[in-house]
Amino acid sequence: MKVTARKPVIAGNWKMFHTHLTAIQVVQKLSYQLDPSDYEATEVVVCPAFTALRSVQTTIESDRMHIKLGAQNVYWEPDGAFTGEISAPMLAKLNVSYVIVGHSERRQLFGETDEWVNRKAKAVLANGMIPILCCGETLEQREAGETRSWVAGQIAAGWKGVDPADIGRSVIAYEPIWAIGTGRNATPDDANETIGAIRATVAEAFGEVTANAVRIQYGGSVKPGNIADLMAQPEIDGALVGGASLDPDDFSKIVRYRH
Ligand code: PGA
Repeated sequence: MKVTARKPVIAGNWKMFHTHLTAIQVVQKLSYQLDPSDYEATEVVVCPAFTALRSVQTTIESDRMHIKLGAQNVYWEPDGAFTGEISAPMLAKLNVSYVIVGHSERRQLFGETDEWVNRKAKAVLANGMIPILCCGETLEQREAGETRSWVAGQIAAGWKGVDPADIGRSVIAYEPIWAIGTGRNATPDDANETIGAIRATVAEAFGEVTANAVRIQYGGSVKPGNIADLMAQPEIDGALVGGASLDPDDFSKIVRYRH
């Protein structure tokens, strides 16, 4: 058993899957399979597409579920002429608790920069929500031995100018890009080592107290079969789960990894 004051957080990133209709079914099936001890041990978050947020919110609230709601992205301005964007106040009004910022798919496919990620994280915090700040290296960077310096740079830039107390209540997701959706996960030892290095970076830049408080998830091909070994690592405080979170049976097995 590892001893840490940090409560793990296991979040499902549904990406561009599930209409609001299937999203309601998934969250209901997930909730049937979880019991109070699961929520005591772990925070459980689902991050549906924007179009399903309201439906999942009302399902969670009317059935008094302990599942928390997350969003996959946000724009940093509170309102304005920004066609197609969604603001942090809009998400906060839906009782969204967590917002993923800087997912590698947004960085790679939609050109998000560290500076944008920083603005997004600040907007999320300013509206009383918790950012899940993603970082991670490409296969080329890993093979060139640049993993640590690359993720350290992403972390420093992502949290630039943020109050250390706010960072302490936030979440970082370490997701090696080569492990996302590939079925190829980082070994638990490897993930633990890089997450330890991320924590050391946070300690250096923002202090030990912040580094000890911030929860750092692993993400990338997390499945029912590998979650327990990952969670046994002292530095790993949860998981950001893509593919395996779409199915409520798989996702509940991941959440209930202790059983
Ligand atoms: P995966 O995705 O679990 O399907 O690899 C993880 C993520 O992109 O957050």
